[in-house]
Amino acid sequence: MNSHFYARLPAILAALLFLTVAPANAQSPQPEDSTGRGEHKLVQADRQMVAAAHPDAVAAGLDMLRKGGSAADAAIAVQLVLNLVEPQSSGIGGGAFLLFHDQRTRKTIAYDGRETAPAKTRADHFLNADGTPISFADAVVGGRSVGTPGTVALLAEVHARHGKLPWADLFEPAIQLAKEGFIVGPRLAAMLAGPRAERIKTFTTTRAYFFPTGTPLSAGMRKTNPAFARTLSQIALQGPAAFYDGPIAAAIIAAVQKAPINPGVLSLQDLLNYRVIARTPVCHPYRVFEVCGMGPPSSGGVAVGQILGILSHFDLPGMGPDSVQSWHLLNEASKLAFADRNQYMADSDFVDVPTAGLLEPGYLATRAGFIRTETSIIPPVVPGRPRGVPAKLPGADTQTGRPGTSHISIVDADGNAVSMTTTIEGAFGSQIMVGGFLLNNELTDFSFRPTQDGHPVANRLEPGKRPRSSMAPTIVFDKSGELRLVLGSPGGSRIIGYVAKTLVAVLDWNLDIQTAIDMGHLVNRNRFTDIELGTPAARLQAPLEALGNRVKLRDLNSGLHGIEVMDGKLRGGADPRREGVAQGD
Ligand code: GLY
Repeated sequence: MNSHFYARLPAILAALLFLTVAPANAQSPQPEDSTGRGEHKLVQADRQMVAAAHPDAVAAGLDMLRKGGSAADAAIAVQLVLNLVEPQSSGIGGGAFLLFHDQRTRKTIAYDGRETAPAKTRADHFLNADGTPISFADAVVGGRSVGTPGTVALLAEVHARHGKLPWADLFEPAIQLAKEGFIVGPRLAAMLAGPRAERIKTFTTTRAYFFPTGTPLSAGMRKTNPAFARTLSQIALQGPAAFYDGPIAAAIIAAVQKAPINPGVLSLQDLLNYRVIARTPVCHPYRVFEVCGMGPPSSGGVAVGQILGILSHFDLPGMGPDSVQSWHLLNEASKLAFADRNQYMADSDFVDVPTAGLLEPGYLATRAGFIRTETSIIPPVVPGRPRGVPAKLPGADTQTGRPGTSHISIVDADGNAVSMTTTIEGAFGSQIMVGGFLLNNELTDFSFRPTQDGHPVANRLEPGKRPRSSMAPTIVFDKSGELRLVLGSPGGSRIIGYVAKTLVAVLDWNLDIQTAIDMGHLVNRNRFTDIELGTPAARLQAPLEALGNRVKLRDLNSGLHGIEVMDGKLRGGADPRREGVAQGD
């Protein structure tokens, strides 16, 4: 033991005392105090439910369910309205992952509508002339960061496979709202009033829409979007080809290639070549449950699965949410999972990703064996060597992703479920607006460095490749194989932590979904321990520092939306940190 250990000894002893004396079932500081923003009540329903980031979007989805539509139909209506009312987060200019659980066949399919790197992108796409990476802020803005959008193709694919209502009907709520105008919400208004929105002003069309009189749109004003209404009308009438070919496609290409700064290389051929991929979800056991998520190119499903798989070696249900030890274990498991994520996760159609090995119970038992209850592992934790690692280890990638994005959870009257996380990457994406919607900056989810210490990075940029994501749309089944929970969140790479914590809160601590969402966050991406400012979780700072962690108290802006199935009834929760709601019948 070194002198650093002895210097920390009094604090460690204090922490251990706290761990020892905190009664397991004491009144929890976590669930009751929650975030202090507890305006959302748990929503209950008998048949069907939608939870998403805006009331107008939820209303559109519920309307489709009431007309006899499926969860897939509802998801399409929700996404299109979200594009209008929460334009900064997701839309047809971006990409998405959608898990669809078909109750009749008992099958869950993971649809990959992630953006692709244009064919003409080169390895030095985000490098300066001297080979150093350009700054993230410089990379985001303009055409260079725009990947081939996948959302329209994804919506069309799930409609073809799981839809019941006519395609065009699903566009009606968004088209009507775009024509008549929606009420600008406080969140969008606050973002436009913030310093980062200055970048928008570089782009004439984007500026004209968000700063129509030179000042930003303000909360409460009614805003129409005739260009978006026209775009949607064309796609409603002609199908996805209207987006990937013809005038809309031409406008996208021109906007990217002729961007006033950072012109990009996206071409019509990239749009024509775009394909949705139906993948097998990544499913793994957690105690009596089966948890299914999105595999590569997302790191979300595997990283959440690793955190849970490591935690399964500890009695979190017995410790409960009051125990510092529970949060210590979550913190340690997150470090271990992020070490592997950063090293191995990328688009498995391009590089070898040891997905199965990373989730093998034996491997996770070994990883759990590194955890000590009385002290913390000092990050960065080194990645493990699961079965299937490439002979030549890839270089590590520290790209974290920005907290844009939105999550939609739906259960329909037939018991089908959709868990869809959707994104244009950072707030307002590339800032380029065309046809009334924003284009993504998803290419910045690639590693800017193609190599690290002489080793090719798994998540390096390659033509046609999909950037590594952290999105973690999740569906959980109970021990009888029945639907138990639908969940997901925005939040960049912190998504993994938000989803893992909420799963533990519901599955281990038997908290209802709203209480679980409200509970203050703890996230560790193999560096700092981020604890949510202004919540009871802040009380964890001292004991976790005493265990050796570097703790940062900060806003942790999740957007969790979840639906539980309990005794045949539905219970929904929406994140009080954003503007979403859950609603059902
Ligand atoms: N762009 C956010 C993510 O894919 O994780």
